[in-house]
Amino acid sequence: MAVDYTTHDGVAVITLNNPPVNGLGLSTRAGIVEGIERAQQDPAVTAIVLTGAGKAFSGGADITEFNTPKATQEPTLGTVIKAVEGSAKPVVAAIHSVAMGGGLELALGAHYRIAAVGAQIALPEVKLGILPGAGGTQRLPRAIGLEAALNMIVSGNVVMSEKLAGSGLFDEVVEGDLAKAALAFATKVGAQKGPHPKVRDRKIVHAEAQGFIQFARNTVATLAKQFPAPHKCIDAVEAGVLNGFDKGLAVERECFMALVQTPESRALRHAFFGERAASKIPDVPSDTPVRDIKSVAVIGAGTMGGGIAMNFLNAGIPVTLLETKQDALDRGLATIRKNYEGNVKKGKLTADALEQRLALLRPTLSYDDLKNADLIVEAVFEELGVKEQVFRQLDEVAKSGAILASNTSTLDVNRIAAFTKRPQDVIGMHFFSPANVMKLLEVVRGEHTSKDVLATVMKLAKKIRKTAVVSGVCDGFIGNRMVEQYIRQALFMLEEGALPAQVDKAIEKFGFAMGPFRMSDLAGNDIGWAIRKRRYQEQPDMHYSKIADRLCETGRFGQKTGGGWYDYKAGDRNAHPSKLVDDMIVAYSQETGATRRKISDDEIVERLVFALANEGAKILEEGIASKASDIDMVYLTGYGFPLYRGGPMLYADTVGLYNVERAIRRYASQPNGDAWKAASSIGELAQQGRGFNR
Ligand code: 3HC
Ligand code: NAI
Repeated sequence: MAVDYTTHDGVAVITLNNPPVNGLGLSTRAGIVEGIERAQQDPAVTAIVLTGAGKAFSGGADITEFNTPKATQEPTLGTVIKAVEGSAKPVVAAIHSVAMGGGLELALGAHYRIAAVGAQIALPEVKLGILPGAGGTQRLPRAIGLEAALNMIVSGNVVMSEKLAGSGLFDEVVEGDLAKAALAFATKVGAQKGPHPKVRDRKIVHAEAQGFIQFARNTVATLAKQFPAPHKCIDAVEAGVLNGFDKGLAVERECFMALVQTPESRALRHAFFGERAASKIPDVPSDTPVRDIKSVAVIGAGTMGGGIAMNFLNAGIPVTLLETKQDALDRGLATIRKNYEGNVKKGKLTADALEQRLALLRPTLSYDDLKNADLIVEAVFEELGVKEQVFRQLDEVAKSGAILASNTSTLDVNRIAAFTKRPQDVIGMHFFSPANVMKLLEVVRGEHTSKDVLATVMKLAKKIRKTAVVSGVCDGFIGNRMVEQYIRQALFMLEEGALPAQVDKAIEKFGFAMGPFRMSDLAGNDIGWAIRKRRYQEQPDMHYSKIADRLCETGRFGQKTGGGWYDYKAGDRNAHPSKLVDDMIVAYSQETGATRRKISDDEIVERLVFALANEGAKILEEGIASKASDIDMVYLTGYGFPLYRGGPMLYADTVGLYNVERAIRRYASQPNGDAWKAASSIGELAQQGRGFNR
């Protein structure tokens, strides 16, 4: 049973009991209506308390029911709220921990609301690409005023209950025992004559309602270009302001039904569940014991090491930072301080917090200082010889049970583990640059990595606020292995007729934060060059356009050398198309005998995105990633893939795998077609009418 019903001295208590967050699925909704009716029929009951068991009042509608028959089956949430609001006996919502979305809308249907201090209050639907669909756009403005409500609805952000004390939302915000306070309040109002107040009957008072709504529209137009939901939130609120509660409710309903079907909403829900699914590893049960991580050591205070250390300092975990030379250590420390000072300047951190964080940092030149660390993350030069030296030393000094992690981006984690006598304790923790900012952490599971090490690192990732995705060992892991195919296609298209600015523009219009050529100029074209040189040795039959090598031979490594695929002016990071480079590309095509043609923007997008999805499919087939949503999370959090498209795998599903396979076959028959080897699962899934994600 998803709802409990008890009585206490004339007060009926209806307790949502649908773990983990009392989502308002069908059986919970039905249970609430039953409880309300039962209370009406019991003459001994004078009032009703509505609350939630466990860790939430309610996290809202059950998102897993969306687009299933259960979502619209009666009693819908609208019907439930009507029953609550229509109760002849007063209903008191007793809110603790979390009241979000439909949960808050349910509480707004009650006659009174009492909240515990520390409860998170929000209408976060917009973050799922929808709008509050059970009266939230109508009742919240009536409860807390137009401006505050519209801000909450359009942003989806959490406001703490104590901040809303006195706003008109709560009758009381209590510090102590919520259940006791709610029972006392219910007994009191139960003794009062009805009718009891309804939020829907309140008026929205605002001297400049239309002006404010227009202001909100202008803001949304610039901030939420690709997302339809924020605009619809304003439409629904405006309808209520202009035409009253019932008309507003009807517009809200209409908008909700339309939004829930949009690809943007599907993508956002996919990301919500994908983020949570990423922490679930098929053969590592959720109750796997984890190791205690109370202190961390980082080796190497360069670009990555400093950022990695900051993650742990931010979470209050002491860090020992080791370098080989004092000047390198000093440089690393100065960069960390500078980054924190930047945060203070931006108002993101207080000066006190800065000092507290730095006080947790212990610089050293001696491996002896690492012997108490529970986790050691290596971020030294990307050379196997250097890694070997470091890991052999770690094996000597690290305490038994310490986790030894490498931040390598290209080397074989199994080989690194073999430098120690404890490969079960070795794992890859592949952070992205800048490591203190980027959300993504690829957790690389070696052949011998033990399950508790994996579970510990996944838990720790949550603590340092990363989105951790598990990858098996392969060249490039999930993200960089896929991006290599994407870059290959981008380079082939230059040879075949496109120019860097056209390619970048097309994929940026699709929604990528940055196209491949602007990205390479930022990261440094020499990095890709080094990888290709290795490829020429290791996989001589892998066909690569040599155009990027030509560029590198001229020393154009990107922003850092003042020029790459584009020209850069001193002190200006804007990319300006380079006549010199464009001429070089055209000359290269002539030299290789390629017939330059006009490549459409659609072709550019297809070739880039399908190259990602195709390699992603192979990664799934090989078991390097355990589910398609993991791959999407890598791309959404680490590679600037547009959130509203949900990642390369979901995008391929949206296009349809039948269509993806046809396109791949077509590209395989064009020049440079040997780069296209369709993953067999694409055709197989297409035949079954399935996608990667269902
Ligand atoms: N529906 C279904 N499942 C939900 C859910 C929901 N609304 N909210 C959370 N869950 C699930 C999660 O998927 C997760 O499942 P798992 O354990 O199987 O992975 C579990 O609950 C716990 O979630 P978290 O790991 O996120 O737990 P936290 O304690 O960190 O956070 C929370 C709890 C703040 C409630 C957070 O889960 C959250 O923000 N949930 C989404 C809230 C939301 O968007 N509500 C609006 C829903 S839409 C709606 O109400 C429409 C209405 O207007 C008609
Ligand atoms: P870096 O060159 O900026 O820093 C490396 C640091 O390690 C230097 O400060 C050096 O003095 C120090 N070092 C070298 N040998 C050492 C040793 N034996 N003991 C202690 N310290 C030593 O390099 P970066 O970019 O920080 O890369 C570090 C690692 O992170 C590499 O494995 C790299 O592949 C990986 N990585 C780099 C990313 C990037 O964008 N730069 C992204 C993800 C991973």
